[in-house]
Amino acid sequence: MSDSVIANFDVNGRSREVLVKPYHTLLEILREDLGLTGTKHGCELGECGACTVLVDGLPQLSCLLLPHQVEGKEITTIEGLAEGDELHPLQEAFVEAGAVQCGYCTPSMLLTAKALLEGDPSPSRQEIAEALSGNLCRCTGYEAITRAVELAATRMDT
Ligand code: FES
Ligand code: FES
Repeated sequence: MSDSVIANFDVNGRSREVLVKPYHTLLEILREDLGLTGTKHGCELGECGACTVLVDGLPQLSCLLLPHQVEGKEITTIEGLAEGDELHPLQEAFVEAGAVQCGYCTPSMLLTAKALLEGDPSPSRQEIAEALSGNLCRCTGYEAITRAVELAATRMDT
């Protein structure tokens, strides 16, 4: 492990110190070192969005980030979205709107939508579509996902 380095960052509110290969991506570290497999492994080329996590509150592609780029940062993965047994309003809305089919894109959609609604509590359809445009879904046609984000926005805004 002589080529390993210690990385420090916060994941879902918990401070983590991990011995990692400096050339491993944040996606690999989350899934393989920390066992957080909710972050999905897709293209590894920055094209599908499946690996999206929040870094200091903003959506980032974890397949393109190396440990030194997230040193000291706050990372949120899908495992950090619910509060205990209580689903986040976006998670409830996705279930209700039928926005989850195979579920492969769902963690990335939810986290991207969370960041969107934190910046703009009542986005237009167009703004939702633009925010989610980097996240590919092979199943839903996006309509149900867009409706779910609108539904969650309505509830979170009240
Ligand atoms: S796995 Fe990261 S963008 Fe596809
Ligand atoms: S629900 Fe299957 S890829 Fe989106």
